[in-house]
Amino acid sequence: MLEHLNSASASVGTDATPSAGWRSDTQIETLAGKMGVLPPAPGPWLQMLCEVVEQLPYAMLVTDMRVPGLPITYCNAAMVTLTGYDKGEIYGRNCRFLQGPRTEAATVREMVVAIRTATVTTVRVTNYRRDGSTFINAVTMSPVHDSNGVYRYSIGVLSDSADSISDGAALEALRAALPKSMQADAQPPTYDPSLSNVDAEAQLKQYRSAVVAFTRLEWSSAWDSSFKQLLMREGTGYRAFISWLQSGGAAEDAADVQSISTHLIQRRGRLPDTQTSLRFKALAQGSFRRFVLSESSMASMEVLDPRPKASAALCPGRPCVRACCGRTTRCRRTARAGSPHSLRRPMLTLWAFR
Ligand SMILES: Cc1cc2nc3c(=O)[nH]c(=O)nc-3n(C[C@H](O)[C@H](O)[C@H](O)COP(=O)(O)O)c2cc1C
Repeated sequence: MLEHLNSASASVGTDATPSAGWRSDTQIETLAGKMGVLPPAPGPWLQMLCEVVEQLPYAMLVTDMRVPGLPITYCNAAMVTLTGYDKGEIYGRNCRFLQGPRTEAATVREMVVAIRTATVTTVRVTNYRRDGSTFINAVTMSPVHDSNGVYRYSIGVLSDSADSISDGAALEALRAALPKSMQADAQPPTYDPSLSNVDAEAQLKQYRSAVVAFTRLEWSSAWDSSFKQLLMREGTGYRAFISWLQSGGAAEDAADVQSISTHLIQRRGRLPDTQTSLRFKALAQGSFRRFVLSESSMASMEVLDPRPKASAALCPGRPCVRACCGRTTRCRRTARAGSPHSLRRPMLTLWAFR
C-alpha cells in the first residue's frame, strides 16, 4: 500500500526524523474514527493521512501546495474507480486533466480563486472519465496549513453528483472531518531546506552572476541602443570601452568612438549625418559587440549592488535591487511602500567599470 508515497518520501526524506520519532495526529485519528476505518501507525503526516484515505470509498486526492503546477501527490483507489485512470496515470498531473470541452469556465475560475485564497470550497464541474464519458463532479478542495501558517496541502474530495445524492450526509461528514492543520515538522518538505541556508556573501555572488548573465543578454539584444547609451555618458563605462579599444581590441576605432560620442552629447543623442550613422552601426555590431562578449571586458566590470545603500525608509520591508536606490537622495520610484521593484530600467545602470 502507498508504494508511491513511500518511494516519494524516501527520495526527499534525507532530513526526515527516524520512524521512532514520529507522532500520531489527532485530526487524522478523528477522521479515521468518524469514518469507521483503522487509525494509522505513527509516521510522516502525509503517509498517515493517505493510509486513512486509502480505506475510504470516496474518491480523494492530495496536492502539495508548494510544488509548482500542483501535481497530484497522492490519490486513492476510489478515485481510480471514479475516473477510470490508473494511479500511475494520475500521479504527477494537475487535476485539470479531468476537464474537457464541456467543462464550465466560470467554475474553473471559482476553483482558481478558492485555491489562491485557501478557502474550503465545493463546486460542481463537468469532468471526463478515461473512456470519454462525462460526469458532474462535486469537488471539494480543503486546505491544510502547518503550525507555521504555511499552506502545505489541499485535499480534494471528488464525487459523481448522480451517485452522491443518497450518500450526501456521509460525504458531508467526511468533508467536515478533513484535517485543517498539521505540525510543521510532521512532514519533511519536498525540497531540501538546507539549500536556502546560503550566507550573505554567497547570495551576493549569485545575484551578481545573475546580473552579469542578464546584462550580457540585454546588451547583446540591442547593440544600437545600448551602444548609444554607453557613448552618451562620459562615465566609467565609456572609459572602459575606450581603454579596451586602445589595448588592442580595435585600436583604430578609438578615434571614431570619441568623435561620435562628442556629436551624440552635443546633439542630444542624434547622429549627425549618414556617414556617421553608418560608422556608428559598424562599431555597434563590431567593436562594441566584441567588447560585450569578451570575457576580459566582463572581468573588468563590476556590478554595483545598490542593496546595502537602500535605506529602510525608501524600501520598507524588502531589500531593494534597483539601481536608483543607490542614490543618497530620496528616490521617488521606490518611495511607494511595498511597490514591486521592476528591473525594466536599462541594466547599464547596474554597472560600474574598474
Ligand atoms: C485538491 C484539488 C482538487 C481538484 N480537483 C479537481 C477536479 O476533480 N476536477 C477539476 O476539474 N479540477 C480540479 N481541481 C482544479 C484544477 O486542478 C485546477 O486548479 C483548475 O483547473 C484551475 O487551474 P487552471 O486554470 O490552471 O486549469 C482541483 C484542484 C485542487 C487543488
